[in-house]
Amino acid sequence: MRKKVSIVGAGNVGATCAHWIAAKELADVVLIDVVEGIPQGKALDLLEAMPIEKRDVNVAGSNDYAATANSDIVVITAGIPRKPGMSRDDLLHTNYKIMSDVVQKVVAQSPESILIIVSNPLDAMAQTAFRQAGFNRERVIGMAGVLDSARFRTFIAAELNVSVENVTAFVLGGHGDTMVPLARYSTVAGIPITELIAPDRLAALVQRTRDGGAEIVKYLKTGSAYYAPSSATVEMVEAILKDKKKILPCAAYLEGEYGIKGYYIGVPCKLGAAGLEKIIEIKLTDEEDAALKKSAAAVKELCAVIGV
Ligand code: NAI
Ligand code: 2OP
Repeated sequence: MRKKVSIVGAGNVGATCAHWIAAKELADVVLIDVVEGIPQGKALDLLEAMPIEKRDVNVAGSNDYAATANSDIVVITAGIPRKPGMSRDDLLHTNYKIMSDVVQKVVAQSPESILIIVSNPLDAMAQTAFRQAGFNRERVIGMAGVLDSARFRTFIAAELNVSVENVTAFVLGGHGDTMVPLARYSTVAGIPITELIAPDRLAALVQRTRDGGAEIVKYLKTGSAYYAPSSATVEMVEAILKDKKKILPCAAYLEGEYGIKGYYIGVPCKLGAAGLEKIIEIKLTDEEDAALKKSAAAVKELCAVIGV
């Protein structure tokens, strides 16, 4: 039987997730939104591309959560995005209400599903979803690290004029200004980038990665990035559906790993059929550890505001 992925929020990120999932023929897709007509129209439009793309997947849109029943994975992108001058944290109260409502409806229809949270502020929204869903931590995972790492990889590849395929990179921590791009664990064809890029240039690439979301918002003016965010989300979806056991940086609920307990934060995770199958603990320098703890403190502060 085909797998089923539902996506709540048929806006830029949600609809583009549907596009990547259908294009890769990963699963049948259901798009859900509060706005009438939008999920139906986008789903039908995408469905009509399938004969051309030679992909046998069903794509449906609805305002009714009954359509999401028995999903294997539910991606939640519902909420408001950033506008110029807004930080991800400015979205906190509005998206908290939306996330709480959405998760209850999703869980009622798909009690066995795995949730991938995308709405911002990411770590606090993942924590909200985790609390509302009552699922174990293996089944509530946040997307941010794959995106932030992809941005870092893009900038490294451009700096060195090498194929993006040769570049691996890890960005840990919260999805905000305190994120922690780990230069020491980032490589080009296995060579640490610290051997290839001068410290001042590396510092500039790290800063551009931290500002990566804002750089796009500044160009778009009316919203935030969605091609790379949806591609990143679908890499996680694919890893789970295909039980790939892939190591990806994801926001996970920590229970003492990295000396952090009771919060979502970006760390290296193994994703497979069970969802979050393992948190990988890598050795950090004192400086990296302090940066991760600072990032966790920022997440903790946001969670305290909404009481999750
Ligand atoms: P968008 O505005 O294009 O789409 C959001 C959609 O959610 C809209 O269609 C809206 O009608 C819908 N929506 C609002 N309330 C809803 C509810 N109660 N139930 C169902 N649908 C509802 O925004 P976009 O660009 O798709 O971004 C979505 C979210 O993802 C934002 O919070 C954004 O900040 C976040 N984001 C997170 C990233 C990450 O790395 N974690 C990367 C990019 C975006
Ligand atoms: C991004 O990093 C807005 O979180 C979103 O592009």
